Amino acid sequence: MGIRATPGAIPQALERLTKRKAWKALEAHYARVRRLHLRELFVEDPKRGERMTAEAAGIFIDYSKNRITGETVKLLIQLAEESGLRSQIDAMFRGDKINFTEKRSVLHVALRAPNGTSILVDGENVVPQVHAVLDKMTEFSGRVRNGEWKGHTGKRIRYVINIGIGGSDLGPVMAYEALKHYSDRAMTFRFVSNIDGTDFAEAVRDLDAAETLFIVSSKTFTTLETMTNAHSARAWSLAGLGGDEKSVAKHFVAVSTNAAEVAKFGIDTANMFGFWDWVGGRYSMDSAIGLSTMLAIGPENFRAMLEGFHQMDEHFRTVPFEQNLPVLMGLLGIWYNDFFGAQTVAVLPYEQYLKRFPAYLQQLTMESNGKHVTIDGTDVDYPTGPIYWGEPGTNGQHSFYQLIHQGTRLIPCDFIAFAQPLIPIGRHHDMLLANVFAQTEALAFGTTPEQVNAEGTPDWLVPHRVLEGNHPSNTILAARLTPKILGALVALYEHSVFTQGAIWLINSFDQWGVELGKVLAQRIIPELESETGYSLGHDSSTDNLIRRYRNLKTTS
Ligand code: F6P
Repeated sequence: MGIRATPGAIPQALERLTKRKAWKALEAHYARVRRLHLRELFVEDPKRGERMTAEAAGIFIDYSKNRITGETVKLLIQLAEESGLRSQIDAMFRGDKINFTEKRSVLHVALRAPNGTSILVDGENVVPQVHAVLDKMTEFSGRVRNGEWKGHTGKRIRYVINIGIGGSDLGPVMAYEALKHYSDRAMTFRFVSNIDGTDFAEAVRDLDAAETLFIVSSKTFTTLETMTNAHSARAWSLAGLGGDEKSVAKHFVAVSTNAAEVAKFGIDTANMFGFWDWVGGRYSMDSAIGLSTMLAIGPENFRAMLEGFHQMDEHFRTVPFEQNLPVLMGLLGIWYNDFFGAQTVAVLPYEQYLKRFPAYLQQLTMESNGKHVTIDGTDVDYPTGPIYWGEPGTNGQHSFYQLIHQGTRLIPCDFIAFAQPLIPIGRHHDMLLANVFAQTEALAFGTTPEQVNAEGTPDWLVPHRVLEGNHPSNTILAARLTPKILGALVALYEHSVFTQGAIWLINSFDQWGVELGKVLAQRIIPELESETGYSLGHDSSTDNLIRRYRNLKTTS
């Protein structure tokens, strides 16, 4: 089936994915190789562990412990080529409106484009605007960090609270945690996202309003959770500062694309840091949405992070697919998702500072590729975005790894590790890394009945102790977790998501699925709050739950 052309954006007249030559060839190839064991593959090709690797922007990937042969990689790359991946990449970097359901360009890559380069949106070069905002952030961060920016009572700012949700929270909190080692420890950073009042109450309970700065981060500045929390923050701040409305200017700044709503809230737009509709929420941590990151780690480190992003962008844009990290990772994801039927991907950072990385990736991957309609508006006939989940190592090993090793599901894993610890203590780091290598080895090769027998295991116990192995993993290794490496790592996943969306023929940049719940919540709020009469009219379950809630909430 032909694909409806989208003006200036999507390559035209692509065949339906499952009808492509490479797809058909992959199906036949899968039937041949699906039972091959990694043990055999490594015996047949002893250099595989050196050959099936790629490196860029300080990040090395070993993808040899995947259930693939050289032929698999060749066919997957052929699939990428038949899917017009190269021209889709070019379309994104060129500023075409590839987010066609929202008629927007997708230009997070412009957020890290060096000064002096040019990326056009509707004929206008956006790179100078990006750098103007970066300069404004730099100036502001400098003043807050050196104490020049004073609160309403003349005290310096010691506490920064970012209020936002989704992309306006997950990126900032992940980056703050990831780069805490580089942060100014004289300042405390907290992140409020949930509309559950406990989130806000716990964040401020031990703080002095005179020393607290709120960053209200919201692309739209209309999101229910963020605006509710922002109003509570305003009330809390005013209460702590004697009710003087003038204090708001010293204790609230905004990050948004919506100047009108920012002004309506009462924040001086001089204290607003802008970004643009061509930055998707989940792709915004390196825009002004990263203001809390810059305040924490300083402008120089923030710019180093942008440099890491940019290096990976250039790698993705220019390097042949055979050596292209995001393309290879994206294709391997398609191999397991669409041919092996794997439903999830585990992301396992062996770096405590990356503890929020899996949560961050969940929005990036699942809000992007959780789609069942192709760009021509028809249903897909293949699975799209898998479920991402994970925990930092080694904690997961004592929790869910059992299921990965001996359960009935195939769970491809991304192991992320660094050669140097940021805080060296005794033997900890060698032990941590030993666990990375041990786990990927155990997953791939397992233990055979013969090996278990040879250990003197009684026959009845052997089947319980056998690990079949053949569980695929990527190992992502870098020297050290720096701001630059974090940028490169995030860009690696961003572009891997792009690669998959481009091949699956879906729009990775809208998120209509989250809208209905928002609309229904707006209808239900007055039904819960009404003191007097209220009329319901939902289904019998929802009506009954609402009635029970109303009764229970007044029961002592
Ligand atoms: O959950 C939907 C969503 O639109 C996300 O895509 C976005 O990151 C989040 O809400 C927050 O939106 P905003 O930054 O406009 O408050």
